[in-house]
Amino acid sequence: MASSQNDSFRVLFVCLGNICRSPLAEGVFRHLVRDEGLEDRFEADSAGTGAWHVGEDPDPRSQSVADKHGISLQGPARQVEPADFVRFDLVLAMDEDNLRNLDSLRDGNASADLRRLREFDPEAEGDLDVPDPYYGGPRGFDRVYEMVERSCRTLLDELTSEAG
Ligand code: 4NP
Repeated sequence: MASSQNDSFRVLFVCLGNICRSPLAEGVFRHLVRDEGLEDRFEADSAGTGAWHVGEDPDPRSQSVADKHGISLQGPARQVEPADFVRFDLVLAMDEDNLRNLDSLRDGNASADLRRLREFDPEAEGDLDVPDPYYGGPRGFDRVYEMVERSCRTLLDELTSEAG
């Protein structure tokens, strides 16, 4: 996670493996935050509900789509843990499975808000999942990027207008 500021708003992006979708969402969000000069107000991290890829770098296909947009991704992959619901203000699931798994991991101390990222996608049209691109081709990663970029842009707009 970025250097800690006590009063910064912390966002955690979560998918299944933490190698495809959530590192891309984290990278896009960080990039937008940097573009807006808001690094002292927001922090971002990502995690996976599963442990299979813990310690790995982001998938090269996610790295490649990020490179096309001048964004660098951060690893290594880690698994989400109950304490994340206290450390972060907002936990964003990439799909409904992630949301269900995250909901069952929360305990009584959980203070974070739990939502799906595409609730912030102005073009979601009722489909709130960022589809898992792992077993598909490169076009799937481009689609994920487009959804994530629209959602993160709207999310940051909403967070900055809420905070004033
Ligand atoms: P992610 O993609 O959840 O977006 O990181 C996946 C990565 C790995 C697997 C599935 C999805 N897997 O089955 O290993």
